[in-house]
Amino acid sequence: MYIEKLLLKNFRNYREETFGFSDKINLLTGRNAQGKTNAAEAIFFLCTGYSPRVSRDRLVVRNGEEHAEISGTAMSSYGEVSVKIIFSRNDKKRVFVNGLEVLKIGELLGNIHSVFFNPSELKLVQESPEDRRRFMNISLSQMSKNYFYALQRYNKILSQRNNLLKDADRSVILETLPVWDEQLARNAAVIIGARNDFLAAIGPTAEEKHAFLSGGKETLKMKTESGYYGSAEEITFAVLSDLKTATERDMRLGFTSIGPHRDDIKFILNGEDARVFGSQGQQRTVALALKLAETELFYNRFGEYPILILDDVLSELDKSRQKKLLSAVGHLQTIFTSTEVPRGVFATRSYRKTVIENGAIKSQS
Ligand SMILES: Nc1ncnc2c1ncn2[C@@H]1O[C@H](COP(=O)(O)OP(=O)(O)OP(=O)(O)O)[C@@H](O)[C@H]1O
Ligand SMILES: [Mg+2]
Repeated sequence: MYIEKLLLKNFRNYREETFGFSDKINLLTGRNAQGKTNAAEAIFFLCTGYSPRVSRDRLVVRNGEEHAEISGTAMSSYGEVSVKIIFSRNDKKRVFVNGLEVLKIGELLGNIHSVFFNPSELKLVQESPEDRRRFMNISLSQMSKNYFYALQRYNKILSQRNNLLKDADRSVILETLPVWDEQLARNAAVIIGARNDFLAAIGPTAEEKHAFLSGGKETLKMKTESGYYGSAEEITFAVLSDLKTATERDMRLGFTSIGPHRDDIKFILNGEDARVFGSQGQQRTVALALKLAETELFYNRFGEYPILILDDVLSELDKSRQKKLLSAVGHLQTIFTSTEVPRGVFATRSYRKTVIENGAIKSQS
């Protein structure tokens, strides 16, 4: 899968620009604050309907303008697909796939697959479990609409259940909970089952990618503790029973203390917790290995690779890891952004270079 063309109109610092891409290696380059990440962000938007920067949609409209547009065409094994998103300063965004408006983001997902990495993805290793769940959610939602909708329902029911738990009237809580719990457990089972499969598949691959990137100097092990295994029915039953057991505690706490919204992944580097003991460079390599492994999961599931967007990754790696990374992505469309063209690393490769200056394309070659 690869993106062929990207049009930006009044998107962030762009007025109107059209990018063309190679189906292999692409490099967006330019000085700081010229629009490299903005272009990378736009591609991710076309794939998922969301910004990887987690900012509010209306912020993407160019200052002083009312509307913005991103559109692009991508090639997949099913043929060409075009996606357009229109943003308004005062209205919800509108999404079109092959010219037809889609009313739910779920209908956009799965058309163009992508894996996004930028320095803030280091949060994946460094920060809270929420960042790791977000990683799984973004990936799994692109892979399965079923997951995406189950997650939406789960979050909605969870917040209703939590509101109820804050209710002062004990009898109201005890009467209403069973209805919520049944639905919560059923959706939880979809999420947990998908995450179990995802983690079982991504773990060994990430460990391999990591060994490659680190030149075999470090070993990574991934551990997860969802605590629920088996068929959807078995998981539903187990979650339901845990919800019952936790009722008294949940009422005391005023929120739901068990379920997939508490899942986490542990990264063990050379036998130690990478979050606590890993150096910056080591943590970066773990996060990158995870993203490379994610591209393989897409391939295994769909028979084609996603678009890999690597924003500002090169500057943070030493020459040896830069070279390793470049040789690890030769088979899929990769969009690098970088202030520099790393000498000696790109020289031996053919790639498409786009120079960006002040929200405009200065040259493409
Ligand atoms: N809605 C907007 N309207 C106009 N300009 C915007 C808007 N949103 C962001 N910008 C501008 O875009 C610029 C940042 O672009 P971007 O993040 O793509 O830079 P970059 O080329 O990736 O730089 P770096 O090398 O530092 O990562 C900033 O100068 C910012 O002010
Ligand atoms: Mg940037």
